[in-house]
Amino acid sequence: MGFLDTNSPPFGGLRDAPEQLFSALPTPCYVMDEARLRANGSCLAALAERTGCKILLAQKAFSNYDFYPLLAPYLAGTEASGLYEARLGWEEMPQKEVHVFCGAYRADQFEELLQYAGHIVFNSIHQLARFGPRAKEAGKQVGLRINPECSTQEGHAIYDPCAPGSRMGVTRGVWELEMTDSLLALLDGLHFHTLCEQNSDDLRTTLAAVEQHFGDVLPQMKWLNMGGGHHITRPDYDLATLERCIRHAQDTWGVTVYLEPGEAVALNAGYLASRVLDVVENNGTKIAILDASAACHMPDVLEMPYQPPIYGASTQLDQGHIYRLAGPTCLAGDVIGDYAFSNPLQEGDLVLFGDMAIYTTCKNNTFNGMPLPDLWRLDETKTLSPLTRFGYQDFKMRLGR
Ligand SMILES: Cc1ncc(COP(=O)(O)O)c(C=O)c1O
Repeated sequence: MGFLDTNSPPFGGLRDAPEQLFSALPTPCYVMDEARLRANGSCLAALAERTGCKILLAQKAFSNYDFYPLLAPYLAGTEASGLYEARLGWEEMPQKEVHVFCGAYRADQFEELLQYAGHIVFNSIHQLARFGPRAKEAGKQVGLRINPECSTQEGHAIYDPCAPGSRMGVTRGVWELEMTDSLLALLDGLHFHTLCEQNSDDLRTTLAAVEQHFGDVLPQMKWLNMGGGHHITRPDYDLATLERCIRHAQDTWGVTVYLEPGEAVALNAGYLASRVLDVVENNGTKIAILDASAACHMPDVLEMPYQPPIYGASTQLDQGHIYRLAGPTCLAGDVIGDYAFSNPLQEGDLVLFGDMAIYTTCKNNTFNGMPLPDLWRLDETKTLSPLTRFGYQDFKMRLGR
């Protein structure tokens, strides 16, 4: 049926019918698609090559380190949100840059952090004063996150670091009150992160706000990190505007430009395979209960919220067999969404979610004692191999000794 989703970007890499390719897989499981990771990596490396910018993997989005060796040749390094991700990047993408930004660093972790991170970005002038001199003494590059007070997304305050009252980054007003010559002398770079799944027109708007508020200090900096949220590897992404933004920063302020996308590195490069456990009905609504859970295995479906794509299904509900897909947990709202299928769903049917490499494995949990889905590799010859064998112990070890 023409309305079904089998060839959109999340599934474009699956040449064979998934039922054939994935039939032997124990579900639920995540499958990482190496061909798609490589395609994203090539796109990012070409951008870096053309512009001279440096691109880091934001590990908060994708930190399945078995794939770091594949990604490393395309990237300048990793970006971390704190000590553990910094260590992971240092261990698993060795010889590459490790950058860290954290909302607030802890004194009892800072010395260890210095072992791993080469670039340390502070969120406040107070933290810059507290830890900056030690970072500098240890030979590290020191940065400060700025808040350009320029919201380019609407109705999404949870993902908008420029929302009123945000704790993210130093506004120019606070800079005026707290910045001193000696603290300014510690700084090698500035960092901003304001976007979420956005195109480069919003970066252009943001960069103009950065220039308006901080254009006077940027010539004193060695680098400018433009954060993540750039959906660079999306088919409709406007690369030319991004390149103009990068060149503008390089030419105007003489800075090295860093980008630290998470999503763009692993966009459409993973699947969550699940199967139907049961089909129930409530006043005409047919509900398929899966062995995968929104709450446990794709939490952004509920948090963001969004409705993930499914191979061979449609979110347009004007034809086909309509089902509400839901998880097996106790949470009434563990609902993934309503979809149309060409055939009635039955126990055991495969349901394959797309774009499941990002913000999934790094955010999942074992609520209700749900098993952690195993990780599988889909290599470039379309061969599947297992990476993990999670079980009861992985659930239990987090809950006690
Ligand atoms: C500081 C910082 N850098 C990079 C990213 C990665 O963003 P994305 O995965 O949307 O590209 C985030 C996401 O929240 C972030 O907070």
